[in-house]
Amino acid sequence: MVSLMNRLPLSGNDGAGKAATVTRDTLEAICADVARHARFLNTLSLLEHIGSRKIMLARSQAPDAAVLKHLAEETRHAYFFKRAAERAAGQTLHYGAAHTLAGASAKFYMGRLDARITAALRNSHGSLPYLYMSLVIEDRAIWAYRIYQQVLAKQKSGISLSGVLAEEGLHLGAMLEQIEALDSHAERHIAAFCALEHEEFQRLWNAIERHRGAFLAAAE
Ligand SMILES: [Fe+2]
Ligand SMILES: [Fe+2]
Repeated sequence: MVSLMNRLPLSGNDGAGKAATVTRDTLEAICADVARHARFLNTLSLLEHIGSRKIMLARSQAPDAAVLKHLAEETRHAYFFKRAAERAAGQTLHYGAAHTLAGASAKFYMGRLDARITAALRNSHGSLPYLYMSLVIEDRAIWAYRIYQQVLAKQKSGISLSGVLAEEGLHLGAMLEQIEALDSHAERHIAAFCALEHEEFQRLWNAIERHRGAFLAAAE
């Protein structure tokens, strides 16, 4: 388990390096504008909601207590971010383009990642696609939420991600434990799927960056 944990490129990272700096810079710009920040929070809610729906779809046949707990927690994360988003916006928000930041790209990120991992594991144990999809997303979420948490604290936003982060960390550990028990090629698969996630996340983040550019242009 310790050796597999070391295979994860993001969550074991301390938030240093170029990618973290670029991400922090963008998050600071997003948080500095309350309307834009509300849309970003709502986009995180959308991602958490899609994640919980994917767990439901992947594990709807006789889910055990661990799956139900994971499902409940991801649904609660979606609610947490939705509530924070609507508080910031002062209105009800939907998941359409006008109320998200690159919402369509967020949906593509989850959809493409799921499709690519599922295709690569088509001859494997039934629960492995769910476990790997969750694993790479948890790895990304922990990395990104840690950076976001630093930005929120610096800007005294009053939003704390500590509860969400603690749960994502537990999910990551639970996924790793099951993967280790079920997959003799875990090391190779973790490297391959983290690389896929990196590609798909880059597309999503580029779309968020384009929104940031559009906001800046509109403000000039
Ligand atoms: Fe989550
Ligand atoms: Fe999670």
